[in-house]
Amino acid sequence: MGETAKLEFGGKTVELPVVAGSEGEKALDISKLRASTGLITLDPGYMNTGACKSAITFLDGEKGILRYRGYPIEQLAEKSTFLEIAYLLIFGDLPAKGEFEEFKENITHHSMVHEDMRRFYDGFPKDAHPMAILSSAVSALSTFYQDTHNPKDEAAVRMSIYRLIAKLPTIAAYAYKKSIGQPFVYPDNSADYCSNFLNMMFSVPCEKYSVDPTQAKALDLLLILHADHEQNCSTSTVRIVGSSMANLFASAASGIAALWGPLHGGANQAVIEMLQMIQQDGGDIKKYIAKAKDKASGFRLSGFGHRVYKNFDPRARIIKKACDEVLAKMGKRTPLLDIAKEIEEAALKDDYFVERKLYPNVDFYSGIIYSAIGIPVNMFTGMFAIGRLPGWIAQWCEMMKDPDLKIGRPRQVYTGANERQYVSLEKRK
Ligand code: CMC
Repeated sequence: MGETAKLEFGGKTVELPVVAGSEGEKALDISKLRASTGLITLDPGYMNTGACKSAITFLDGEKGILRYRGYPIEQLAEKSTFLEIAYLLIFGDLPAKGEFEEFKENITHHSMVHEDMRRFYDGFPKDAHPMAILSSAVSALSTFYQDTHNPKDEAAVRMSIYRLIAKLPTIAAYAYKKSIGQPFVYPDNSADYCSNFLNMMFSVPCEKYSVDPTQAKALDLLLILHADHEQNCSTSTVRIVGSSMANLFASAASGIAALWGPLHGGANQAVIEMLQMIQQDGGDIKKYIAKAKDKASGFRLSGFGHRVYKNFDPRARIIKKACDEVLAKMGKRTPLLDIAKEIEEAALKDDYFVERKLYPNVDFYSGIIYSAIGIPVNMFTGMFAIGRLPGWIAQWCEMMKDPDLKIGRPRQVYTGANERQYVSLEKRK
C-alpha cells in the first residue's frame, strides 16, 4: 500500500489511502470509510471534497494557475481559438489540421435549429430571462434527437456534442431577437463561430451588417477563458445529472440552470448592474467598499472573491488587459471601466479584502467587454454558458468513461424529529 493516513475512531484505527494527482495534490480516499467505521464525512459546500479524478483542467488557486489539458491559459488565450479549445477539452489533445477541419465542419453544419423550435419562443414572455430560455431550449433539443440519448453510444454522443456546440449560439441569439421584437436571423455557415453569433444577434434583414473582427476576436477570447474550470457548481451539476445516465442535452440544460445564479455565472450581470448603480449614485467607491464590508448590508462586491483562487484569478488579469485593448481599438470609453479599476485598486489595499484573499474574478471585467460589443446585460450569463459548454461536455464524457463512475448520491446528517406517531386531523391541536 502507498501513503496512508490513520484515523482513530471508536477504539479502532483505520488506514485511509492517500491518492496523489499529477501535480502533487493529495487526497484521502474515503470510499471505504463508512463500511469500515460507520462514519460519513460532512462538508457543506464541498469545500474539501474531491468528487472525481479528472485529467481536463488543472488549477492552483494559491498560485493563480489555470491550465486546460496542461496548456497554460495565458498561452491559449493568446494563440488559440474557442473551437480549438473545445476540441482540446473534449478530446484531450490539440487537433491535427485535418481533425480540426472535420470538427469545425461538423459544428458549422449543425448550427440551424429545427423550425419547430422557433415556435417555442412564441410562448415565452418578451422579457423572459435568456438563461431560462437557454436552459429550456437545450432541454427541448433532446426531444428532436431521441435516437441519440444513450450516453454509452459514442457515435450518438459525438453527434449530440456537435449539435449542442453548434446550436447554443443560435438559441441564444433567437432569445435576444425575441426580446427586442426583431426577426430571427438564420446562422451563416460561411462565418466563423463568433462572427456567426454576432451576425445572428445584430443583423437585420433590411440593412447591411458586417461583423467587426475586433468584436469577434474579443468574444472568442472571453469564450476561451470561460471554457472550463474543473468542478465548479455548474460542472458538478452536469456531472451529477449525467451520473444518473441522463442524456447530454438534459445534463447541459441543468448546467445552464446552475450557472444562472448570481454567485456563479450570473455574477457577470450582477457586476455591470453594480457598476451602473455606483455610477448613478455619484461614483462614491468608498461608500460601496464600506457597504461590502458590512455584513448586515447584505451587499457583496460582485465579481470579487472565489472559492478556489486565493491569490488572483488569471482569467481576470487577461480580461482586464483585453478591456483596455478592445475598448481602445473600438474607440470606445466607458466610465464603468474606470469605476471598476478604482474599486479593484481600493479593495486590494483594504485589509478586509486582503485578509480574506478577495480578488477580482473572471466576471469582474468581462461584462465591460460584452457591453462594448453590444451584448445586452441580461445576455451576459448566456455568453458564459456558450463558453462553458465544451467544459461541461468534456467533463460529462470523461465521467461516462470513468471505471469508478457511480450515481452521484451524497449522504446527510439527519437533524430532524425522531420517530413520532401520526395523529389524525380531528385530534390535532
Ligand atoms: N464581497 C464582500 N465580501 C466577500 C465577498 C465579496 N464579493 N466574497 C466573499 N466575501 C467574504 C465573506 O463575507 C466571508 O467573510 P467572513 O469570513 O468574514 O464571513 C469571506 O469573504 C469568505 O467568503 P465565502 O462566501 O465564505 O467564500 P466562498 O468560497 O463560499 O464564496 C464566492 C465564493 C465566489 C461565492 C464569493 O466570493 C462571492 O459571493 N463573490 C461574489 C459573487 C461572484 O463574483 N461570483 C463569481 C465567482 S467566479 C465565476 C464563477 O464561478 O462563475
